[in-house]
Amino acid sequence: MIKLVKSTFYKEKETKESLAKFILNTEIMSMGDECKKFETAFAKKQKRKYALLVSSGSMANQVLIQSVMNRGLLKKGDKVAVSALTWATNIMPLLQLGLEPVILDVDIATFNVSSVELEKHIKGIKAFFITNVLGLCGDMSEIKKVCDKHNVLLLEDNCESLGSEIDGKLLGNFGLASTFSFFVGHHLSTIEGGMICTDDDDLYNMLVMVRAHGWDRNLAPETQQKLRKEAGCDDFYAKYTFYDLAYNARPTEITGFLGNSQLPYLDEMITKRVSNFKRFAEAVNANDDFMKIDHAHINAVSNMAMPIVCKTPEKAEIYKKKFAGAVEIRPVIAGNMLNQPFYKKYVHSSATYPNTDFVHQNGFYFANNAELTEEEVDLIVALLNK
Ligand SMILES: Cc1ncc(COP(=O)(O)O)c(C=O)c1O
Repeated sequence: MIKLVKSTFYKEKETKESLAKFILNTEIMSMGDECKKFETAFAKKQKRKYALLVSSGSMANQVLIQSVMNRGLLKKGDKVAVSALTWATNIMPLLQLGLEPVILDVDIATFNVSSVELEKHIKGIKAFFITNVLGLCGDMSEIKKVCDKHNVLLLEDNCESLGSEIDGKLLGNFGLASTFSFFVGHHLSTIEGGMICTDDDDLYNMLVMVRAHGWDRNLAPETQQKLRKEAGCDDFYAKYTFYDLAYNARPTEITGFLGNSQLPYLDEMITKRVSNFKRFAEAVNANDDFMKIDHAHINAVSNMAMPIVCKTPEKAEIYKKKFAGAVEIRPVIAGNMLNQPFYKKYVHSSATYPNTDFVHQNGFYFANNAELTEEEVDLIVALLNK
């Protein structure tokens, strides 16, 4: 059986052995040098000025939205566009923080929202928290242009697309900030973990505070002094002074250590995933039982799972049976968010999302793991053939 998650880490044995040694030899294991080192290296790799390590991809989203609100870039009641095809914790922070999600349908061929769909619904939208779904994306440069034209803040949930590249730019580098997940089975695993990237100094300082209680301890000394002066507190009371709404989303040194252990393999993992994707997509696009996948506009598709959509529910049943017992399959993320119980509880909407429903009813995904063997890739390709 080819499972969705093959192992906890790439190079599992070496990583677990070095983790055991690290734990035995490290005295203080709360957030420290390993986390900082991973942040610096990740920011460089992602070509962003800052990277902030947090406890999960979900908390990356939560901390980002809270920080954007603390900075006054969004306020309660503002409308924020999101994709109908996404993960629950992409949308939950919006509801939790009093923002109004505006759900946009996806293109079936890209699994993502297009600039045309965005522009159609742009009236009154203050931000677009886009999800780059499973290594794929819409016409990102056009989406960015539409956002700029209408003064819409672009934020990227890139939890499923680390390493994908379009128009010569990494996904996650189009908006003011982007989020990443390092949960097991994602592109890079720290067991649990997430990252927020940005180039913006003020947003970064806010993210640092929102990650840990709203205090100033992890800020640069000059920023601390400025805040303390404004709040009228001295260095003694600053230890327990809380400047804005926040969480505790700190990682531990284990997260940092694992990030530093896995990061040197990132290029190798991405290369393998990009090459697996090409083989899978070629097989999908050669079989007229499936909807075509449009990836010609993307330079490199780095996904952790491969989505496919059959043309009819009957065909979907046939392929689900074919995969059963050989390759683990799951729905294409959470399907249409509007149908999720949590969403229905808090939002009453009669809007319809035919493309996302089509993907949910006729689609499934399977692993695109960096450690799939050639035989395993061949087996999956054979299942994708008519
Ligand atoms: C688009 C998207 N956003 C956020 C998350 C949440 O990440 P985590 O599982 O690290 O909390 C996921 C998880 O897979 C995701 O797919």
